[in-house]
Amino acid sequence: MYRTHTCGELRISHVGQTVTLAGWVQKSRRMGGMSFVDIRDRYGITQLRVDETTAPAVSETAARLGREFVIQATGVVEERQSKNAKLPTGDIEIRLTDLKVLNASQTPPFTIEDESDGGEDIRAKYRYLDLRRGPLKRALMLRHRMAHEVRNYLDNKGFLEIETPFLIKSTPEGARDFVVPSRMNPGEFYALPQSPQTFKQLLMVAGYDRYFQIVRCFRDEDLRADRQPEFTQIDCEMSFVEQEDVLDVFEGMMRHLFKEVIDVTIAPKIPRMSWYDAMDNYGSDKPDIRFGMKLHEITPLVQGHGFSVFDSVPYVGAIAVPGAAGYTRKQTDELTEWVKRPQVGAKGLVYIKMNEDGSIKSSVDKFYTPEELQAVAAAVEAQKGDLVLVLCGEKRKAQTMLGVLRIEMGNRLGLRNPHEYAPLWVVDFPLLEWDDETQRFYAMHHPFTAPKPEHLDWFYSNKKEDLERVCANAYDFVLNGVELGGGSIRIHEADVQQRMFEVLGISKEDADYKFGFIINAFKFGAPPHGGLAFGFDRVCALFGGQETIRDYIAFPKNNMGRDVMLDAPSRIDDVQMDELFLRSVAPEK
Ligand code: AMO
Repeated sequence: MYRTHTCGELRISHVGQTVTLAGWVQKSRRMGGMSFVDIRDRYGITQLRVDETTAPAVSETAARLGREFVIQATGVVEERQSKNAKLPTGDIEIRLTDLKVLNASQTPPFTIEDESDGGEDIRAKYRYLDLRRGPLKRALMLRHRMAHEVRNYLDNKGFLEIETPFLIKSTPEGARDFVVPSRMNPGEFYALPQSPQTFKQLLMVAGYDRYFQIVRCFRDEDLRADRQPEFTQIDCEMSFVEQEDVLDVFEGMMRHLFKEVIDVTIAPKIPRMSWYDAMDNYGSDKPDIRFGMKLHEITPLVQGHGFSVFDSVPYVGAIAVPGAAGYTRKQTDELTEWVKRPQVGAKGLVYIKMNEDGSIKSSVDKFYTPEELQAVAAAVEAQKGDLVLVLCGEKRKAQTMLGVLRIEMGNRLGLRNPHEYAPLWVVDFPLLEWDDETQRFYAMHHPFTAPKPEHLDWFYSNKKEDLERVCANAYDFVLNGVELGGGSIRIHEADVQQRMFEVLGISKEDADYKFGFIINAFKFGAPPHGGLAFGFDRVCALFGGQETIRDYIAFPKNNMGRDVMLDAPSRIDDVQMDELFLRSVAPEK
């Protein structure tokens, strides 16, 4: 038997017992005639004590120990002289009678402590060492708890967990596909699923009624803190439901997770906001409603005063930043540079300082009287001491820029407390999104989302402005400014699905080639259905108080989509290439 207890288990009640522990050396030190070794495993840390005079052989072994050696230690549990209140095992130590080195270790390339001295790259290369650290261990334990509670909740609601294939044909979720060449079908490729979207709909056609899966999805897209090329969804679908039924079940699931996993009670009714209100008031389809600082349109108030920047655009909007009127010239200049960064994309920034003494100072004093600026301030609901920030441009673009600025100011003012949870449903999305560059419509959610029944006339119209007005029963679950999940009521009729492909500019032949299977399935009695998917990694990260999902994934990729530890992706050998009928034209590295 390697051990009698774990390293997190022993308490004062065990004093006097002879025990054996096995684990890693966290640290060891000599003091006087004594050696102290901290032994660590998944469950905790326990202090071992070796007395040179009474156990000279054990003491010799202890002297040879290095960090991360794997050891087996036997001894008697004793009450500690100086207790450590920070450790659950801090009241006791073990006086060793035997010590074995089970395996030595090279000195690790970074310290394995909660706060490590290792940079991101080195920790990624030695991920298995990084995973020994407390924060990652806690993150993966939280993830396990979450998965367990998701299964509990959905099982209770009658959902069946059904697996769907990974080697499939493309599913359009808006990203590029990862593809896999088929050896047995030369020149042909599978696509890895961007989500199980079409399969879960086929399961509804097959009559399974309530499906879920905690499932890996693959998307070849630009990576960010909350995006990985392979990530996990809690994917769900339900038959014979309307939007209200879906929101009800998943509001319940989130409430269950909050309560069971982190003991947080969220509001009995999660607020709802239409996509239009979210854009107009927050400049984002995933508003962070933990703080105000809402957007206000001021176009009519500022046009016609000779300021050509405002006169030449369709939209001028502003936010009032509380208590920031004291910003210096240097600070407003820095903010102006900040909004000009490509990530924000503004051409410039206009400000109005509402000084505490009631006076007003702005960067456009030349064009507006103090009364006119006062009127703007009133429209923006600015108080004395606030700083009004103004951006302009094409309506949705300018709103989006203001939304990004709002979040930045929220961060700078410390208004985004990670331990406050403000969930929100964003509903009533437009069905379609026009793209100027390609001169065509794209599905805002995905092409299987149904138009609202009351908008079907517009959906069948060929006028662009009619199609732009069509809304969907689509919904996103947003928490603290992060889109955690999204879904919709689906199309379940073959002719409506055909029309959708037509609106998206996909020819009948192309639609048949790519999606013939689902259009056909709809001809065999498809029930009305709908569902959604949560980004499981994101839910875990937010529950853990983080926006970065990487720590909640055991073996994540870096920003270039590389697994630094495996050094993947990598070239494959010529034999494999030949078998797959592939030839690479990529330049040598
Ligand atoms: P959607 O594309 O909105 O919907 O994805 C659902 C949720 O998955 C998460 N997510 C990601 N998480 C990490 N890395 C990524 N690259 C990534 N991409 C998406 C987000 C998002 O809200 N089939 C539909 C769902 C449906 O209609 O039922 C879908 O996949 O949290």
